[in-house]
Amino acid sequence: MMERTKKLIAMNKEWQSFWHDKWEQGDIGFHKDEYHPALVNHGPGAIAHAAQRLHGTQQLRALFPLCGKSLDMKWLYNYFRQENIPATVVGVELSETAIASFKKEHCSFMDHSKSKSLALQLHVADFFKSSELFPTASEHFNFIFDRAALVALPSELRIPYVEQCRNIMRPGGVILLVTFDYGENTTLGPPFSIPKQQVESLYHFAQSIQHLERRVMPATSKKFTDEMITDIYEDDYLIIL
Ligand SMILES: C[S@@+](CC[C@H](N)C(=O)[O-])C[C@H]1O[C@@H](n2cnc3c(N)ncnc32)[C@H](O)[C@@H]1O
Repeated sequence: MMERTKKLIAMNKEWQSFWHDKWEQGDIGFHKDEYHPALVNHGPGAIAHAAQRLHGTQQLRALFPLCGKSLDMKWLYNYFRQENIPATVVGVELSETAIASFKKEHCSFMDHSKSKSLALQLHVADFFKSSELFPTASEHFNFIFDRAALVALPSELRIPYVEQCRNIMRPGGVILLVTFDYGENTTLGPPFSIPKQQVESLYHFAQSIQHLERRVMPATSKKFTDEMITDIYEDDYLIIL
């Protein structure tokens, strides 16, 4: 095995135990008890783009990589139901605790989700093994919602992450990406700062990258104020592969 690959595997393992500890300790400040504005504001448009690119009898498949117990999965499922769009919503998450907690908290919604044309599938798995998890073209995705996934990864793991996304997307697939930008500081994450230039470089192979919206939020956490960072920008991008 090449030295670089060995190093990345070791680094991924180290980060996995970081996230397992977070879930075990209930230290999950990243989790939001509301739907994310990027999905609510731009999800329908992004889905429409993805739907236009469906071939033949293909159905929409939407992926939440590094999904935690995000309520956004529920929002998208309900959106597909309301709009009568046959689809499968898939979440991939390392932590069993996160997935068990999602199922417990959203039991009734999960019970209602047994419809023929709609499905929700949650996988407890390492996202870096996605090509093994979704090996066939029919399992590949038209849409990815990336909130707090790319920005949760250190710089060394970002290209391998983007490669995984690329490998399991259908041609013409659409990514709705949410990033944070607080300058070039690489040591304060997660969440890491990923300015526009880096998004463009990571997704250099995309057909198009459109910046959709920027929100500003006060940086309240001590690690930011210690570095004199007062504002953090949250950016939404529409990436068409
Ligand atoms: C910052 S949290 C974001 C969770 C979710 N996207 C949200 O918006 O609430 C990052 C999540 O990625 C998960 N994670 C980290 N590395 C992973 C990996 N290699 N495969 C799958 N999940 C991973 C962590 O357990 C954690 O739940």
